Amino acid sequence: MELQLEQGSEIKSWKEVQLLYSSALKQISTKIEILNDEFQHVHLYNPIEHVTQRIKTSESIVKKLKSHGYEPTIGNMVKYVNDIAGIRVICSFTSDIYRIAEMISKQSDIKVVAVKDYILHPKSSGYRSYHMIVTIPVYLSDRIIETKVEMQIRTVAMDFWASLEHKIQYKFEGDAPAHINTELMECARMVSELDAKMLQLNEEIEGIRAEGETK
Ligand code: GTP
Ligand code: MG
Repeated sequence: MELQLEQGSEIKSWKEVQLLYSSALKQISTKIEILNDEFQHVHLYNPIEHVTQRIKTSESIVKKLKSHGYEPTIGNMVKYVNDIAGIRVICSFTSDIYRIAEMISKQSDIKVVAVKDYILHPKSSGYRSYHMIVTIPVYLSDRIIETKVEMQIRTVAMDFWASLEHKIQYKFEGDAPAHINTELMECARMVSELDAKMLQLNEEIEGIRAEGETK
């Protein structure tokens, strides 16, 4: 029997949604782990500091659908909510972010649906990170479902800023005083400068090491 490739329109229940998206997350995180191990083997360092993942709660999916004017149905979840499955990859250096993104994009079973480069184009909040929506085929007993995963790839410094900013915005329900937003922007600038300095330092160290190896 040939397995049929589907976009998820046959998903009927919340249980199936959870099963599908958690399977997609397992596959993506294994891919990330393999890339990290291989990188360690070839380049003698781990580009990835850590990885976190989550499945969006049904409450928060329904809230998102409603806010975009969609009926809260299983069909609409699968069709319109791109971040039911989310994975966050925290790297050491900015250059690692683009390497990881490229290596994932090149894999033949992965399709890149959308990219938002908030490193090249930071958000007005100061937020920096590299976002990709990808699909990965999940093999069920009788069919294959192309399943969407939101990937956020960022450095440790970007992650530090984003988690602090998120906490602050949560506390003020998204309406923080202007001077706090200005300070956060200033922190974002410092974080970006720190990332640039760390990258430069690392390149210098790599250069010294390469020189040592040729001697
Ligand atoms: P959502 O509807 O929130 O998912 O946003 P979107 O569909 O416009 O996608 P986008 O790629 O802009 O942002 C998705 C996710 O990135 C959010 O859920 C957050 O995790 C993160 N994010 C985006 N902007 C900010 C920001 O200003 N601050 C922080 N801390 N996180 C952000
Ligand atoms: Mg989101």
